[in-house]
Amino acid sequence: MTSPAVPLTGSARLRLDAAAGATVSLPEHEALHGPLPMASPAEIMAEVAEAGLTGRGGAAFPVHRKLAAVAAGAGPRVVVANGAEGEPASNKDKTLLAINPHLTLDGLQLAARAVGATAAYVYVHTDLRLLSVLNHAIAERRRSGRDVVSVEVVCAPPRFVSGEESAVVSRINGGPAKPRPKPPRVFESGVRGRPTLVSNVETLAHLALIAGRGAAAFRSVGHSDQPGTMLFTVSGAVHRPGVIEAATGTTVGALLDAAGGPSHHLGAVLLGGFHGGWLAWPAARELPLANPELRPHGLAVGAGVVVALPADVCGVAESVRVLDYLAAESAGQCGPCVFGLPRLAETFGELARGKSERHGGRRLDELSLALERRGGCSHPDGSLRFLRSAAAVFADELRLHAQKRCSAVSGRPILPTPAVRG
Ligand SMILES: Cc1cc2nc3c(=O)[nH]c(=O)nc-3n(C[C@H](O)[C@H](O)[C@H](O)COP(=O)(O)O)c2cc1C
Ligand code: SF4
Repeated sequence: MTSPAVPLTGSARLRLDAAAGATVSLPEHEALHGPLPMASPAEIMAEVAEAGLTGRGGAAFPVHRKLAAVAAGAGPRVVVANGAEGEPASNKDKTLLAINPHLTLDGLQLAARAVGATAAYVYVHTDLRLLSVLNHAIAERRRSGRDVVSVEVVCAPPRFVSGEESAVVSRINGGPAKPRPKPPRVFESGVRGRPTLVSNVETLAHLALIAGRGAAAFRSVGHSDQPGTMLFTVSGAVHRPGVIEAATGTTVGALLDAAGGPSHHLGAVLLGGFHGGWLAWPAARELPLANPELRPHGLAVGAGVVVALPADVCGVAESVRVLDYLAAESAGQCGPCVFGLPRLAETFGELARGKSERHGGRRLDELSLALERRGGCSHPDGSLRFLRSAAAVFADELRLHAQKRCSAVSGRPILPTPAVRG
């Protein structure tokens, strides 16, 4: 369940290395971090705003603005720690919860205090060992009186869209883990119709550290416009794949070096996961992992997924598998997503098999335009981002495929695509 977690350049805050992969118990956590900080709601809000904490679940939204929006809602409020981690190439949330559950649980209590919530949930990837760690941690806290708001654990089905915030709310309300139409947004009407904060489990862990140690300590590392550290899941052709805590702004090359360095000559890197995009390796090496630096390339750090693709593996074939997977992971509710994503994956698959390069390219453009901004959630747009980057970065390879050739030597799969489910 846990993968080796290593800090980079001494900047570790979440300290996943502290227990060498074992779970940090409540007494150990208290020895490291002390009691739950006594900060008032206004102080927590101000410190989080000063820290410039952005969400670590994918969209990098400023956390203080979400806290303020929920706090402004009427009636009792709800907070949710989102640990669904439906992205197959990500392992950082499971690793954080399995090693250091009390940091996230502290963050959940502090977020509850900040917004005035009376109910709290941890929504977590279905994994028996992880559930046992969490239930144990929650029981430890109940016995010690550390929690003011009681916490309930809810399981997330292992689907790509299960962690989308309205899907999270729907599941906690007893419905399917599928995105629902917006508005209302969950901060207006979420769990049982109450204003609800849905925050990624890593975001809440940072929030706990900010409340305990202050904004300045948080800002002392990382990119000035997206400060602090971040957990990255590094996989593919590196010597030591795993979860690495690094300052935002660390270059892709330095991150891969912290993962033992490339194990093969690299062709490309996938940044930001299956809703992220490819970048050719030479261009990626010196690129800082922070949204202001990635945006000009049409990319974002997302939830911190970095996959190194060896030059002898076909990026087109890898992308076909991911697009098939993404199409099958549609929640089946919006026409453009239900019908458009399979057509998109099919058309890219035809191009990969060397069929109709010119017509296929035009059809992809038409389909992309018909899909753009048309979903009830950003699943179609995220899938389009991935497709467009694949078409651009592997353009030469696609031309070879049009001649029924392929430059790849190895057929081994690199990206983890779970079996497509019905
Ligand atoms: C298709 C889809 C899947 C998502 N899956 C997750 C997930 O597994 N975990 C997560 O924290 N956020 C996920 N999100 C983002 C959530 O909707 C939400 O923005 C996030 O939990 C907010 O936390 P943050 O502000 O701390 O980043 C997903 C979004 C989309 C569109
Ligand atoms: S866009 Fe797709 S995944 Fe999102 S709500 Fe609609 S059908 Fe579901």
